[in-house]
Parts: sequence; structure tokens; C-alpha cells
Amino acid sequence: MAKSRAYFVLCSLFTNIFCQNTGCNEWFNTCFFIFTSNQFISIPMQNLTITNITSWAKEKLQSVDAGHDWWHIKRTLTNAKKLHQTEGGDWHVIELAVLLHDVPDPKFFDEEKMLVEVEQKMESEGVSLSKCEHVMQIIKHLSFSKQWSGKAFDSLEFRIVQDADRLDAIGAIGIARAFSYGGHKGRDFYDPEVPVQKYANAEAYRKSDAPTINHFYEKLLLLKDLMKTDSGKTMAQQRHDYMEGFLKQFYSEVEQ
Ligand code: ADP
Ligand code: NI
Repeated sequence: MAKSRAYFVLCSLFTNIFCQNTGCNEWFNTCFFIFTSNQFISIPMQNLTITNITSWAKEKLQSVDAGHDWWHIKRTLTNAKKLHQTEGGDWHVIELAVLLHDVPDPKFFDEEKMLVEVEQKMESEGVSLSKCEHVMQIIKHLSFSKQWSGKAFDSLEFRIVQDADRLDAIGAIGIARAFSYGGHKGRDFYDPEVPVQKYANAEAYRKSDAPTINHFYEKLLLLKDLMKTDSGKTMAQQRHDYMEGFLKQFYSEVEQ
């Protein structure tokens, strides 16, 4: 009896791995079966994949600033869940893209190297090839700085992940993240002698040493009109208004 249980577990594991890689989606291929002495448990493979990828991403993001840490990923997941509830889309792709999107951030890591690692991680966790490719496309095109790359990508899942990430760049959290990043880079937060700039390329944008308050005009206040989903636009409005209120108060205190 014990032998046949072990045999069944092994068979289900091999079938799972084979079918995840070939994109096959039958019910018996999306679960990992376990027999204990008196019960039979089935764990969806996707849950195991997400658990493993979550710990991996958490580990990778340990060295980044407070604005790009694990809590940014958690908040972005919450935003994405809300958007997905009204917009739809493949939640597994959205969740994977949110979990992994900042692992190849060129501000903190070697982008090309980490993109390879992210892809390999998904493959080793049995994510199907088509989902893996979709997630990679989302991650490669997500950043605000990609506007200078001349390359575009679009899918419902991409729009949801990008809006979710951008919602975390505005509002009260957006203000906190901007000053956290500016502090991390040792930048002034205010200097009226440095004008707001239009950057010619992603490198100039990333290398800019402008004070943090300029970042509101160079990026944060622009995001509301760049939202791609209707629910994202609605959620962005209130956060945008909050930033406008903050800036009004900020200048009233500077000028008094
Ligand atoms: P994306 O996540 O689209 O790649 P960025 O990397 O430019 O966008 O920025 C992510 C967040 O990091 C911003 O929303 C902001 O909080 C912070 N940040 C990035 N660049 C700056 C900057 N120059 N000054 C202040 N904060 C910044
Ligand atoms: Ni992000």
C-alpha cells in the first residue's frame, strides 16, 4: 500500500512538471497529490509556484531602498487585485509579474543578468512557456523609463500590472517613496534654482541629481493621465489630488 502511494505521488509529480512545461491544463495536472496515513490532500501547483517565487523575490529585494522593498510589492499586489476584480485578466500572470517586476530594476541590479534569473526561476518552478513569455514581456516594458526605449507591449494583464505599480508611485505612499528614494541617493529635497527638466533618454532620467520635489513634475503628477485601465484612472484621481494638496501646502510653508 505504502509503495503504491509513493508511486502515485511520483507519477503525479512527473505529470505535473511535464504538463506545466507544455502548457497542458487538465485538472489532474495542476495539483500535487499527497497521501498521508488516513487522508488524501491535493495542493494546486500554482500555489506552490507562487509560494516559492514569493520567497525568492523577497530575498532578492532585501538590498533595495524602502520605496522598492517587499512592502511595495505587497501594496502593488493589493492594487492589482482591485483592478483585476473589475478589469478581469489572467490572475496568475498578473501575480507573477507583480512579484517579479522589480527584481531586474536597473537602479539596483544588473538588469540583463536579473532578467535571465527571473526567467530561469519561473521555468524551474514549472510556469508554462506561454505564461513565462507573457510575464517577461510585462516586466521588460513596465517601467516609466521605458518610454525612451521606443518599444511597446500591450495586453490586459500588462495594463493592470503597470497601473497597479503606478498607483503605488502616487498619493501619500508616492510622496513617502519619492523622499525615501531621494534620501537614499543623498539628494536635496528642494532647490528652487534647479529647474524641472525634460530628459532626452532613460540614462539621463536615471542619472539626474535633481531635487526630489522636481520628481513630482517630471513623473508623479503625469501618471494620472497615463493610467491605462478605467478603474486605474478612477483610483489615481484621488491620489493625484492628495499630491496636489501636499505641494500646495509645501510651497505655502516655503514662501511664508
Ligand atoms: P518605475 O517603477 O516605473 O521604473 P522609477 O524607477 O522611475 O519608475 O521610480 C519608482 C519610484 O522610485 C518612484 O515612484 C519614486 O518614488 C522613486 N524615484 C525614482 N526616481 C526618483 C527620483 N529621481 N527622485 C525621487 N524619487 C524617485
Ligand atoms: Ni514597482
